[in-house]
Amino acid sequence: MTGDSVGARFQPGTGTVSIGEVLRLSTEHLAAKGSDTPRLDAERLLAKAIGLERIELYTAFDRPLTQPELAAARELVARRARREPLQYVLGEWGFRHLMLTVDRRALIPRPETEILVERALALVAGLERPRVLDVGTGSGAIALAIADEHPGAVVTGLDSSPEALALAAENVARTGLPVELASRDLFEGLPDGPWDLIVSNPPYVEAADLPGLQPEVRDWEPHSALSADGAVEAVARGAVAVLAQGGALAIEVGAGQTGGTAGLFEELELSEVRVTRDLSGIERVVEGRRR
Ligand SMILES: C[S@@+](CC[C@H](N)C(=O)[O-])C[C@H]1O[C@@H](n2cnc3c(N)ncnc32)[C@H](O)[C@@H]1O
Repeated sequence: MTGDSVGARFQPGTGTVSIGEVLRLSTEHLAAKGSDTPRLDAERLLAKAIGLERIELYTAFDRPLTQPELAAARELVARRARREPLQYVLGEWGFRHLMLTVDRRALIPRPETEILVERALALVAGLERPRVLDVGTGSGAIALAIADEHPGAVVTGLDSSPEALALAAENVARTGLPVELASRDLFEGLPDGPWDLIVSNPPYVEAADLPGLQPEVRDWEPHSALSADGAVEAVARGAVAVLAQGGALAIEVGAGQTGGTAGLFEELELSEVRVTRDLSGIERVVEGRRR
């Protein structure tokens, strides 16, 4: 099955085509183009193109699509076939309890980062108005989720990317949550606190590993969000200088990096150092408290 054959079947003027048929053709096409989840992608893209919930497609398999619906579906499938991430094609993605705008300006929020948020919330659970700093906020996902789930938290998200900050500002407006944004390079130190919690999902992919990443990540997500040599250490060292006494630090790191990061936390004399696994069982989040 080639892209052209799907394209031809989607062309206006070639007769009607049903939802079920479009799903079948799109799934075959996306599988041939290397998607790991072709059927799911096809369903979500078609649902978006024709303004239905994905579940509603199942009761409408025989319904013919109009020509404008076909054209819209065809455009979205063609984007995904070029290995653009499903999330960017859809233009929004769920994170914790929020629906956020996502596009090429920032990293797509990941499920493992929801675990980081869970730990972050636990670390400030006893505080009524914790001052929270999210370092490398990207789309704003972590900062916004904390503001959403800990009303009273006073949250700032910082990033050095103007594009990411513009997207984060759109998500602040979209959610209506009280998050401040700041433009800053984390390698120049973190803003004065004292902060009750510093949380970060910094760029932690080794530069040498970038070429081996799947095309959706390697060719579409900002490399400055994926990899920056020394970022984890810079966040940890910067954090101890501006954390309140008893304030907590929680950082997400790559597979195989928790041991070194926990060692760094000990070296920085943080207490209660703890590692949490993600949903795949990979050690992912390192936390500690300033004494
Ligand atoms: C892995 S992404 C995390 C994005 C978001 N917090 C999330 O979890 O989805 C890392 C973020 O750090 C930002 N970043 C990279 N280098 C930075 C630097 N030197 N100073 C500040 N932010 C930086 C990137 O722009 C990117 O938004």
